[in-house]
Order: sequence, then C-alpha cells, then structure tokens
Amino acid sequence: MKAVVFDLDGVITDTAKYHFRAWKHLAESIGIHIDEAFNEHLKGIGRMDSLERILKFGGRAPDFSEEEKSRLAEQKNEDYRRLIAAMTPNDILPGIQDFLEELRNAGIKIGLASASKNGPFILKSLQISSYFDTIVDPAKLKKGKPDPEIFSTAAVQLGAEPRECAGIEDAVAGIQSINAAGLFSVGVGVPEDARPDWRVASTLELTWDSLRKHWIEKG
Ligand code: BG6
Ligand code: MG
Repeated sequence: MKAVVFDLDGVITDTAKYHFRAWKHLAESIGIHIDEAFNEHLKGIGRMDSLERILKFGGRAPDFSEEEKSRLAEQKNEDYRRLIAAMTPNDILPGIQDFLEELRNAGIKIGLASASKNGPFILKSLQISSYFDTIVDPAKLKKGKPDPEIFSTAAVQLGAEPRECAGIEDAVAGIQSINAAGLFSVGVGVPEDARPDWRVASTLELTWDSLRKHWIEKG
C-alpha cells in the first residue's frame, strides 16, 4: 500500500453535529423541520446538494431561485463557521493522530477527500495540516460522492494506483465512492450493507498494522 485517503467529517473530527445544527437552523427559518435521522442522508453530501435535499424534503424546491439558494447555503455556512471557530486538537477523533503518525513513519502518503470546502480550515484548527501530502479541492469536481471522482482524483494527486490506496469513510455515499474508484474501503461505524472492505466501530481501531493486514487479506 502506498497511500491512505481520509474523509474529514466523521473520520478525523466529529463535525456532523455542527452541520446538523446549522442546517436545522436554516431549514426552520424557511418552515422545514429536519431531525437527526434525516441528517444521516446529508453525510458526505456537498453543500448545495444538501440544501436541495432539504428543500425537496420540505416540498419547497420550486420556491427558490438559484440566487436565493446560494444565499441560503451561504447563510448556513456562516452559521457553521461560527460553530467550528473554536475547534482545537482536542476535537480530533480518538486514535487518529497516532494513526497519522504511524502512516507518516511508514512512508505512506496521506490525502484528504472531503466534500467540505472548509477542509483546509478545519485541518489547520486541529493542527494536523502538515500530515497531508494532498487535499482534493471539492470545488473542482464535476460530481460529488457517491461518484468515484473524488477518491480517483486523490489517488492521481498522490501518484498511486487506486488499488495501492485505502480510503476511509463514515458515510454510505463515501464507501460507495471509494468502492467505485477501486480503493480498499474502510468504513467507520457504517452499516454492514454499505459493503466496506473493512468495517471498524470506532476510529480507535485504525492502526497501520491492522489496515495493512486487512488489505493483504483482501489480496
Ligand atoms: C461533508 C459533510 O464532509 O462536507 C457534509 O459530511 C457537508 O455534511 C459537506 O455538507 C460540505 O461541507 P461544507 O463545509 O463545504 O459545507
Ligand atoms: Mg464523513
């Protein structure tokens, strides 16, 4: 294995609660009520696509122009940025920093494949930017997860073949993206039917030794 590609939200840090709070606030301002179960369907999904899903869910999709939708998404992001402004290295999920350290020591390249445009800002707040050899810019992609484009692009940027890489995800759409791109897929807390190559219940289980072992077993 030559490279490991990380999703951000839900793998490196738990921002789902902040995304949810910001979306809920926004949705309520236009009369739509969303709950945590609905939020599950927004994981891994880009900002505009998430907004479209919320509007559709509330039956309000036809009510807004493209310009108004951009403004709504911007409003959500401002709210979200306020919520994540105070993030520190204490917000790194358990075991992740040690895992990054092990990968670096083993000479494994490290990439970020997040749909979030706030990715670089969050890595900086968590003080782990220096571990990353590359970050895929989601603004340059044609299609979001579950399309394979983001993980395929990460492999190209890291100079590795997809089969020489692992991708780590907490979202079903993310596992679908990794599998379609042909990387070894690792699912953190994903349902069995998401079909990851290796499923872990918590980020604490992620170590270079066990990742390599599972990757070799797959053949
Ligand atoms: C993903 C999150 O990582 O990024 C989604 O799981 C989020 O919930 C998406 O909508 C886009 O994030 P941002 O920060 O660009 O609005
Ligand atoms: Mg995620």
